[in-house]
Amino acid sequence: MSKLEACIFDLDGVLVDTAKYHYTAWHDLAQEFDIELTTEENEKLKGVSRRDSLIHILNLGGKVLTEDEINHWCEVKNTHYLELIAGMDADELLPDVIRILDLLKDNAIKIGLGSASKNAPFILEKTNIAHYFQSVVCGLDVINSKPHPEVFLKGAEQLDVDPSNCIVFEDSIKGIIAANTGGFISVGVGDPEELNQAAHNIKDFTGLTLKSLQSLFS
Ligand code: BG6
Ligand code: MG
Repeated sequence: MSKLEACIFDLDGVLVDTAKYHYTAWHDLAQEFDIELTTEENEKLKGVSRRDSLIHILNLGGKVLTEDEINHWCEVKNTHYLELIAGMDADELLPDVIRILDLLKDNAIKIGLGSASKNAPFILEKTNIAHYFQSVVCGLDVINSKPHPEVFLKGAEQLDVDPSNCIVFEDSIKGIIAANTGGFISVGVGDPEELNQAAHNIKDFTGLTLKSLQSLFS
């Protein structure tokens, strides 16, 4: 029978309020190409790597770039994004994140991070939560973007847990599909309509207890 042994968290939009900065940076970059990036279209970029996000945006405007140009615009986007998060600290953590991390730690539940972002280790340091994680798998460590389950499967391996004993918290539909495909218990954080493929949904971590997490396995 499966039971709660570990939790793997996505970063952007789950632990920290960075999804809005990614959107601003992509929106402004899209405008350089006369492309209007709507919030609806932006949902499809959540959980997607930097390069694949750029390609998606360019496709919206029917633009094709060379490999060098792609690298250049990825750099431009990231420089802008890093400017937007330059002053970031623990205040940008989403509600009850510290409480839930403490709760898991105090109850010997393993904690992992599974993020598409290459900036993940930097953000964990800036928000002062890096020490909670026994495993950090990020955009620097994977070949396949979500919805491929690679990022979570690597995390489960590093934590030495079976996916069926592990919850994945995600705010993107691609991340939920990745978790489901990998055999994890998926929990959608945010809009339940957007994340309707999640096994369970929460608005945020407020009020979540160890009992409510354990009950997801029964
Ligand atoms: C994901 C975000 O976590 O990381 C995406 O949801 C982002 O919006 C992706 O594009 C890659 O992030 P980065 O920091 O490597 O550009
Ligand atoms: Mg996310």
